[in-house]
Amino acid sequence: MQFSIRTLAAEKARTGCLVLAVNAGENLARGALNADKAAEGALRRALARGDLAEKAGATLLLQGVAGLAAERVLLLRLGERAKYDVAAFQGALRGLAVVLKTLGAKDVVLPLADLAVAGRGLPWAVRMTVLGLREAFYTFDQLKTQKKPSAPALASVTLAIAGAPVTLQAQAALKEAVATADGADLARTLGNLPPNLCTPSYLADEARKLAKQYKLGVEVLERKDMERIGMGALLAVTRGSHQPPKLIVLRYAGTAKSKKPLVLVGKGITFDTGGISLKPAPEMDEMKFDMSGAGSVLGAIRAFAGMRAPVNVVGVIPTCENMPGGAATRPGDIVTTMSGQTVEILNTDAEGRLILCDALTYAQRFDPEAVVDIATLTGACVIALGHVATGLFANDQKLADDISAAGDDAWDRVWQMPLWEDYQEQLRSNFADMANIGGRPAGSITAASYLARFARKLKWAHLDIAGTAWRSGREKGSTGRPVPLLVRFALRKAGRKS
Ligand code: BES
Ligand code: MN
Ligand code: ZN
Repeated sequence: MQFSIRTLAAEKARTGCLVLAVNAGENLARGALNADKAAEGALRRALARGDLAEKAGATLLLQGVAGLAAERVLLLRLGERAKYDVAAFQGALRGLAVVLKTLGAKDVVLPLADLAVAGRGLPWAVRMTVLGLREAFYTFDQLKTQKKPSAPALASVTLAIAGAPVTLQAQAALKEAVATADGADLARTLGNLPPNLCTPSYLADEARKLAKQYKLGVEVLERKDMERIGMGALLAVTRGSHQPPKLIVLRYAGTAKSKKPLVLVGKGITFDTGGISLKPAPEMDEMKFDMSGAGSVLGAIRAFAGMRAPVNVVGVIPTCENMPGGAATRPGDIVTTMSGQTVEILNTDAEGRLILCDALTYAQRFDPEAVVDIATLTGACVIALGHVATGLFANDQKLADDISAAGDDAWDRVWQMPLWEDYQEQLRSNFADMANIGGRPAGSITAASYLARFARKLKWAHLDIAGTAWRSGREKGSTGRPVPLLVRFALRKAGRKS
């Protein structure tokens, strides 16, 4: 799917499919008015017949409208101008994607300014349109022998701006959006791959492939390396598995060496059975998505490299399987983490925090500006925030505010939760420095509180993506979140506010 932005009047667009926006009733949006004039009122007459439903995303296809250069015109309902917000924008875009698919449209021209939401600007509309369409057209059928009868895919999307030059900002937004979509695609595909294929070794190979393609630094620590530096918590999680664990380090340098890097730490459990604290059978397959944090780190780095972003980023990915077995860690085992602190593992299903705590200690060696970890960490976070917001925890309020703002900007939203010392006592252990679980109350907060004990020397934030990394049910599949948030956050920090 090729995207471009052009100064182009709707009536002159030579395309298979010209999209024109309609507000409530028979109100054509601004960009559509000139087209209607050129078509001598044909659009308004079509609307007057009442065939365009009022719901945002409803469409009406017109063939061969005289006076317009386009082969087809697709009227797209946005709804009442005053109520047109991000939700309406997304509804419209979803509806549009559905018809474009059924039409098998090969090229389309979209009225960018009409789609924009008040207060958010054109660069925002560029990013959201590109990401929305790329997500809608994403497919994962590499493991089906019968591929869908291949409808000719949408090859070209032109974002048209009528009567105004294309700004550098809009061009930069397009480059960012395409790279971000490529990164989100990678995260989605890694998430969707089954756990027998997407193993820790597979993730390491994927990192090496990215390194080769984009000339990044890459290093993969093996079990013996982890033993040498004392990663007792990570090693405890991998014990039951036949797959070798990996600690992947992938570095993207896009600006001066003197600029301290942002370190992204991604949870890479390629399958979480719970270990000896075995999970119940229903929906256990979804624990293949337990490496979504790792996928989002690889995806974000692919995005930075693809757009040559002016940032320094290090990805750190602890990855292994959590399996039961004769050699597996038992509830009650006590291990020594890389930090030197000891942990009583009371529940082997609380494994994410065990691999992350050693990765956070490891992250210190990069002298980071900030560290953000991304993890499908707790079912409790799904109970708290559902599938809408990612849980945000931080030991630095400025960092939390910057991440929240980036989340709103990218519409990949987060909600901050407290990280007060009061919660720490839930992690008390009679036998070690701490336990790895804190009981049922505030499950996502005590998980974050555990991690905080390993991030005391860092400016650190934790994103719990348990509810947002994938969808269940009929639409089961990875969302690619929070790649858009991570990319926007890093770019805003580098001065790209829009
Ligand atoms: N990967 C899971 C968290 C999870 C569960 C994400 C369900 C999404 C849906 C994590 O490793 C886990 O098992 N957490 C436990 C922690 C508990 C044992 C303290 C949980 O949330 O139940
Ligand atoms: Mn678990
Ligand atoms: Zn897990």
